[in-house]
Amino acid sequence: MSIYKSNDYIVQSIEGNQLPISYEELEQAAKAALSPQAFSYIASGAGAEETAHKNKNAFQRYSIVPKLLNDVSELDTSISLFGKTYPTPFVLAPVGVLKQADEQGDFAVTRAASKFGIPFIQSTVSSFSIEEVGQSSDGPKWFQLYWTSLEDISFSFVKRAEEAGFEAIVVTIDTVTLGFREKDLFHGYSPLAHGYGQGNFESDDVFLSTLDEVSNSAIVDGIIKQINYPALNWSHIEKLKEKTSLPILLKGVLHPDDALRAVDCGVEGLIVSNHGGRQLDGVISSVDALPEIVNVVNGKIPVLFDSGVRRGSDALKVLALGADAVLIGRPYVYSLAVHGEQGVEQFLTTFLQDFNSSMTLSGVKDINQLKQMKIVHD
Ligand SMILES: Cc1cc2nc3c(=O)[nH]c(=O)nc-3n(C[C@H](O)[C@H](O)[C@H](O)COP(=O)(O)O)c2cc1C
Repeated sequence: MSIYKSNDYIVQSIEGNQLPISYEELEQAAKAALSPQAFSYIASGAGAEETAHKNKNAFQRYSIVPKLLNDVSELDTSISLFGKTYPTPFVLAPVGVLKQADEQGDFAVTRAASKFGIPFIQSTVSSFSIEEVGQSSDGPKWFQLYWTSLEDISFSFVKRAEEAGFEAIVVTIDTVTLGFREKDLFHGYSPLAHGYGQGNFESDDVFLSTLDEVSNSAIVDGIIKQINYPALNWSHIEKLKEKTSLPILLKGVLHPDDALRAVDCGVEGLIVSNHGGRQLDGVISSVDALPEIVNVVNGKIPVLFDSGVRRGSDALKVLALGADAVLIGRPYVYSLAVHGEQGVEQFLTTFLQDFNSSMTLSGVKDINQLKQMKIVHD
């Protein structure tokens, strides 16, 4: 159990915080800290960024209806997932090439997250290997898989993640090819080509055995060839089920039929996500997709939420709409760019204060009560 005294959060000073408090100012600070190409890579969405805007605007159409006089002097923010208890309902989303934001990349993020017991999801296209990230903190870690054209590479990654103590496998299903990201095309920028996403590949014997020569350009070309795999289908997920005893989550689910199929397929969880508007532009906002998916899944497996969470009240809304846990993406990446590991730690401190204060003011003292909270939709 994680018991917080509500009042501590209200009076606790945020002195020493070197990050802007507001998300919008944090984004501007990251813009100043990064090259225009790197900032644009992180901030932008695909196409005309219609979905990226929808993710933000959709939250404003859902309103919290507080139910008060409930003695909220103590809060319990803990949740249970896959047989484990976590002190908060938050998970850090998989973000590739984090090293372009800070030299310490994934190491800095997992160390900061571990102080809060928050799981960090390492991306397939991390700058560091699964083993290096596994050893860099004793906090909980999950591994995100981009399926590879040669499936033995995927199975090798999963085995390595198991051996390195990772606790779940997150298969991203919305990226069978890269989204049409106009800003990156304008800049002619690919962080993969700059060598930022190789950690897991250059340390994998199965991948290396596919190359004619081991050079930087051969590795980059090999990665691009492997992670674009439009043939991905349900049979791959069924096969993966046989290969691992770790819980499998599918990330990128937006259609209720896919959610039902995921349950039938025996996966342990799913993540409602549109990849932060970076993949197919014009798709539904994650928050609009969530209620129907929660409804059809009907508690059979956990439904996690991802895409667009910026503040504590956003998280409150999606938990009240039925999500079992919430992924945080760009805000922690910006914090990393502005102030490294300390930046991520400060961001999480502030975000949790905001979340706890939002729970208190809504009149709910634990996540179960939060999930019964009334939300209305314009
Ligand atoms: C710079 C960047 C890189 C990302 N890399 C990955 C990745 O490697 N694998 C993945 O599944 N999702 C990746 N994502 C998507 C995130 O996991 C998450 O879905 C997205 O950031 C959610 O949107 P939000 O940050 O606006 O909340 C990336 C997102 C960003 C911003």
